[in-house]
Amino acid sequence: MLTILGIETSCDETAAAVLEIDQDGKCEILSNVVHSQIDKHTPFGGVVPEIAARAHIQLLDGIVEQAMKTANVNYSNLSAVTATAGPGLIGGVIVGLMTAKSIAMAINKPLIAVNHLEGHALTARMTDQVEFPFLLLLVSGGHTQYLLVKALGEYERLGTTIDDAIGEAFDKTAKLLGLPYPGGPAVEKAAKLGDPTVYKLPRPLLDRPGLDMSFAGLKTAVRTAALKEEPVSEQTVNNLCASFQEAVADVVGQRSARAFQLFKDRYPDTPPKMVIAGGVAANEAIRTRLNQVAAEQHAELIAPPHKLCTDNAAMIAWAGAERLRQLAAEDPSILEQNGIGDDMNEAPRPRWPLDKKSESVVGFGRKGAKV
Ligand code: KG4
Ligand code: ZN
Repeated sequence: MLTILGIETSCDETAAAVLEIDQDGKCEILSNVVHSQIDKHTPFGGVVPEIAARAHIQLLDGIVEQAMKTANVNYSNLSAVTATAGPGLIGGVIVGLMTAKSIAMAINKPLIAVNHLEGHALTARMTDQVEFPFLLLLVSGGHTQYLLVKALGEYERLGTTIDDAIGEAFDKTAKLLGLPYPGGPAVEKAAKLGDPTVYKLPRPLLDRPGLDMSFAGLKTAVRTAALKEEPVSEQTVNNLCASFQEAVADVVGQRSARAFQLFKDRYPDTPPKMVIAGGVAANEAIRTRLNQVAAEQHAELIAPPHKLCTDNAAMIAWAGAERLRQLAAEDPSILEQNGIGDDMNEAPRPRWPLDKKSESVVGFGRKGAKV
């Protein structure tokens, strides 16, 4: 039995969770505390990294305490401490990782530095015991990518946005149309009252092969259309939101069909399945489209509960636990060590692609920045 504390601070959620995992890998979430800082960032129409970092410092001790109390677990009973070590807003990542290292050192237990994307990638194994291999579509405010999850530690990025993440495009579209932050739910609500056929918006990159996507041009097209209509009425805003959402659904639908095809080519004997994660996965229109595509492709679409699809610490604890179990199977003494391998020396990282081949070639090229 493993009891794991997880810490997540890579964006604007301050989160801590405690999991208990039995011999067979069955997981019980003893606590999962997520404090959203959204009210602190709303006045600015987006996450302000400096404000987020300060808030994490103020909140994290209390959130960890709350997670431990709710779980009714003593620090001495923890098997390991895990935290997001990147990718993310560096100020927040530093706060979470350093706190985790301090706790691990104080209780003399292993510290596992977790890649935030690996947390999202493995969530469906915690909630639905999904077997490798599977596809992951991660669509959030910071990330938009298709991953092939082949095995623990083996991830291949199949495609990514080359500019804005989808959630970011929703947020920017909302902002330019005068809708509140976060933009996703606001745009979805307005879209329900609008007509998606009024504006012919582009489907960027749709004519190109592969699984890469682009959303910056779409957002600009919304701006151009809105400027032509000034003064913009409420119905125009609704129609623009509906047209924008339809364009995003078209792109994601077509790319997902292609991802399933690729999976079938690689694993002809394995039933294709795709897990969706990230805040945008809450969008009904996008979900409906993905369900249609999955049905056409005779594939399974798996959506873990929303609370575990958006940023949380349970997924970080789980990803750390999967690695710990693998390492402990080879060498049980690992559970007695203070720090696994070099993890105690692991530095907080603003960028950290899961797929080594996807490292940004030029350091901070746009293609590398959002992964
Ligand atoms: O995963 P998440 O909670 O946090 C990170 O970005 O890591 O995702 C937040 C993003 C925001 O950009 C938000 O606008 C978007 O997810 N979002 C949505 C919806 N709900 C949240 N986008 C479209 N439709 C929604 N219903
Ligand atoms: Zn995330």
